[in-house]
Amino acid sequence: MRHAAIVGWGKCLPPAVLSNQDLSTFLATDDDWITTRTGMKERRISHVPGIELATVAAERAIACAGLSGADVDLVIYGSCSNDEAVPNSASGVQRRIGAVRAAAFDVNTACTSFMYGLSIGTAMIRSGVARTALVIGVELISRYMDWNNRNVAVLFGDGAAAAVLQESTDEAGVIAEKLQCYAESRDILRVRGMGTSYANLGVQFGQTRWDFDGQEIFRKATHGMAEASLEVLARAGVGIGDVDLVVPHQANLRIIEAVAKRLGADPSKLHLTVRKYGNMSSATAPVALVEAIEEGRMPPGGLVLMPAFGGGLTLSAHLLRWGDRVTPLATSSAELPPCEKSALELVEEIRAQKRAGHEDAARFEALRFS
Ligand code: ACO
Repeated sequence: MRHAAIVGWGKCLPPAVLSNQDLSTFLATDDDWITTRTGMKERRISHVPGIELATVAAERAIACAGLSGADVDLVIYGSCSNDEAVPNSASGVQRRIGAVRAAAFDVNTACTSFMYGLSIGTAMIRSGVARTALVIGVELISRYMDWNNRNVAVLFGDGAAAAVLQESTDEAGVIAEKLQCYAESRDILRVRGMGTSYANLGVQFGQTRWDFDGQEIFRKATHGMAEASLEVLARAGVGIGDVDLVVPHQANLRIIEAVAKRLGADPSKLHLTVRKYGNMSSATAPVALVEAIEEGRMPPGGLVLMPAFGGGLTLSAHLLRWGDRVTPLATSSAELPPCEKSALELVEEIRAQKRAGHEDAARFEALRFS
């Protein structure tokens, strides 16, 4: 049987750090509230478009695999914060890395976009459609955040990570997975203002209103990630004790702890990044995976469990078998351009741009959806 081994990995975090203290300069919040409710201390704010973050992560992943862009024949761009809708973002990365023979498309399942992309890339390699796939999780949440809403503005950050999958005869890569969506809960996590529905109703594009039912998300996410994880463990015929690393989506430390408790996972096997990066939506889980490997936490041949959830309410759990190699074959010189501004300055610029469209508030109130 054909498998899709993960042979390259790379991440790109923008350098500007937004602290809880920074947030409290323009929101009625404080470090203690954010830390105790979410486990977050810092998040990153990007000074460049999402495609640039994605390209640096991709270049690093491709070098890690000992390949060049021309070897890639499939680019999957997982994101819910694309720089533009047409052309797709995957083609922007494809052109920058020189993957001239590749197919390229975007996937949006909100925070699970990388995980869904991992399933699609794996399936396309298994079926023989592709041989070398680049799967990216990237978000530029800061540009469409509703920075006046303390319920959500404290939770998110920007970032990107990428994985290179390659055809293999060894049992490696995704060995069991579960994808699902609680569609009856699609209203509990909604970013209003992006999409043609809003333009038709007179809302200026880019003006957003975030509607989140945090406690309901908390309940559904905990239940869904635990159930999906148990299902993939059962499918693979392994127990949680066989898992070497648990790398979950990180929307809130308390959700992760609740999922780990339900699964009976040893907390020392969790790889956590929520404290320093917050929730980077689809970039969260792959950034954490890459960081775990870079910090030497991945044993050769290790078993990794990755549960996630996102708007929709999409759910996923993936069980990965790592290959023998846990170090890069080469490193890339790709870097972001220097950032001259602080994270708070970048956020203040975005807030100033959005203030212009304040009259959209009444229009948002009138909107009804299904
Ligand atoms: N600072 C200070 N106070 C705040 C803040 C803030 N940043 N945000 C909310 N509050 C206030 C609320 O207004 C409320 O005040 P009130 O009692 O006077 O009305 C009070 O704190 C308690 O609010 P709750 O919503 O009950 O707080 P909770 O303990 O549920 O924590 C949180 C909120 C962190 C959002 C939690 O519900 C959660 O983690 N939910 C799921 C995570 C989530 O929604 N993530 C979004 C990403 S989704 C994804 O990744 C797919």
